[in-house]
Amino acid sequence: MKYIIAIIQPGKLDAVHEALGVIGISGMTVSEVQGYGRQKGKSEVYRGAEYAVNYIPKIKIEVAVEKKASEDVVAAIKTAAGTGKIGDGKIFVLSLEDAMRIRTAETGAEAL
Ligand SMILES: Nc1ncnc2c1ncn2[C@@H]1O[C@H](COP(=O)(O)OP(=O)(O)OP(=O)(O)O)[C@@H](O)[C@H]1O
Ligand SMILES: [Mg+2]
Repeated sequence: MKYIIAIIQPGKLDAVHEALGVIGISGMTVSEVQGYGRQKGKSEVYRGAEYAVNYIPKIKIEVAVEKKASEDVVAAIKTAAGTGKIGDGKIFVLSLEDAMRIRTAETGAEAL
């Protein structure tokens, strides 16, 4: 299994959510986060204003998937979240050792 963490522009959440639904992703975690990349949070336009600050609001999406679905998920997020501009975000793919659905005690891919 893989654990995919994507940091995206807040305005792209709906598009990413929809794209993941299309490829059958059944659950995800979404958080409001702040961060910066190579531009150190400078000169990014957020809601029309240029903020000379260090931390830019982003959305973090976390999705646990079967290994074979990982590339499709990354591609779907890239397509849905990408504009070609700086600050589009980043996708991290981690190995996921195990998972459990607490209600049933199912583990591994059965728990996703
Ligand atoms: N190396 C990193 N480790 C953890 N989080 C990161 C890292 N780089 C970027 N992020 C997160 O991703 C968000 C978006 O990064 P961003 O898209 O600006 O990356 P970048 O490398 O500067 O690329 P670009 O030049 O396209 O802007 C940041 O606000 C931060 O939350
Ligand atoms: Mg950047």
